[in-house]
Amino acid sequence: MRQATEIFPTERQKLYDRFADRLETAFNLSRRVVSFQANKDEPIYRWFKYKEGFSSDLVRHFLTSYSKKPGKVLDPFAGVGTTLFAAQELGWESYGIELLPVGVFAIEARQAFNNIEQEELKQSAGDLWTELKKIESYETYFHHISISRDAFPDDTEIALNKFLAYCDTIKNKNIQTVFRFAAFSVLEEISYTRKDGQYLRWDYRSKRDLAGKPFNKGKIRTFEQAMKHKLSEIVADLLPQNNSLFDLNGSNEHEQHPIKVTQGSCLEELPNLQDAFFDFIVTSPPYCNRYDYTRTYALELVFLGCDNDRVRNLRQELLSCTVENKEKIDYLNQLYLSIGRQGTYDHVLNVYNSSAAMSEVNSVLDELNKLDKLNNNNIPRMVKNYFLELCFVIYEIARITKSGGYCVMVNDNVRYGGEEIPVDLILSEFAEQFGFDIKKIFVLPRGKGNSSQQMGNYGRTEIRKCVYLWQKR
Ligand SMILES: C[S@@+](CC[C@H](N)C(=O)[O-])C[C@H]1O[C@@H](n2cnc3c(N)ncnc32)[C@H](O)[C@@H]1O
Repeated sequence: MRQATEIFPTERQKLYDRFADRLETAFNLSRRVVSFQANKDEPIYRWFKYKEGFSSDLVRHFLTSYSKKPGKVLDPFAGVGTTLFAAQELGWESYGIELLPVGVFAIEARQAFNNIEQEELKQSAGDLWTELKKIESYETYFHHISISRDAFPDDTEIALNKFLAYCDTIKNKNIQTVFRFAAFSVLEEISYTRKDGQYLRWDYRSKRDLAGKPFNKGKIRTFEQAMKHKLSEIVADLLPQNNSLFDLNGSNEHEQHPIKVTQGSCLEELPNLQDAFFDFIVTSPPYCNRYDYTRTYALELVFLGCDNDRVRNLRQELLSCTVENKEKIDYLNQLYLSIGRQGTYDHVLNVYNSSAAMSEVNSVLDELNKLDKLNNNNIPRMVKNYFLELCFVIYEIARITKSGGYCVMVNDNVRYGGEEIPVDLILSEFAEQFGFDIKKIFVLPRGKGNSSQQMGNYGRTEIRKCVYLWQKR
């Protein structure tokens, strides 16, 4: 049977041909460097594993290769702040926007580490277990929501609540933050859950009524075991002889500027930023792959005090990357109207609507949906809105980047119902319309084979994972 790609290849193929000379296999950018893998051994990153992050090496590579001196850098999807901290170490002024309190807390905690006396932390960590034994009554601090209920063994939940009650009594705010961050970082490990793509997986020992296959997580550490391990790891990383690993005291050759991070949606925050303010944007938006950050990080969100409504609202505010996301177009219209920029709204919408490859993707997915060939009916809506919202983000980042400045974006292409969606090409087409020159689309090397040959063979290839390099005209 003929594939839908063979019936409707033209617009995506044309776009591919237009950017073909910019696609380049980047042998120096391994998947390890682009993904969180290369951070795994770095202090702080290894304490709280944010697998959706990219590596500090990637940020350092682009900032040092494409800029002669430090300036202002922004990450509008800041996650745990990889861009912000790597740039700060190089003397850049770092700005970030992040929707989820999870990333914002990790960024704040990392700043608290910079102000901590190692000896004091070591002492407090040593006294912790004696202090905890003194607590007899305590309130419930961890207020479960439907998707987190029964996540912990009973004893673990009691220990966690006691610990949080104790944290409240700690006078030194930095020590308090570091302790809370340590507990935040062990939540998955002490629970019956495992982060697994779109959802949390649940161990068979949990009290929950489990749909799907039972799963055995293996040994689950008690709260005390996990915390002792985590605090030892933290204290060891903070010891003076390890400072060469990580510049915790800001004692490197560059001037260090405080990091500015805003918690909120970049769709709402970017329009407030000044024209031509930034020299560099280094970012990675959520991928168009149905990954739901609010479910994956449910325990951490609850730990940070989010209730059911807040988690649901955050899910809707995510850049449309899950099948549950509803359209934000009316909201965006209102937003631009309220700041007197209706013209911008019309312009962005026009760029989106005039992308022939985008229209082709939308109609192919609608067609496949009618034929019942997609495993969820909302995939066409998600894809349409993912690109529409990113079209607004790209307009704004073009506006706030100085002429000659760069945007580096990490993203993966996706495939639904057998149809490849060339995220790299469509986003680059938008970027070009908004004033960026598409310098390179670096394609990560694949497992085997001659990748440049494979790249020429549109539609039958392994989907590309890319880093785009755009320069503002
Ligand atoms: C691929 S991750 C970025 C990780 C980051 N590069 C790092 O190294 O930690 C994408 C991030 O975008 C955030 N996000 C999703 N929708 C957002 C929105 N509308 N505004 C701001 N951030 C958003 C997610 O919470 C997630 O942390």
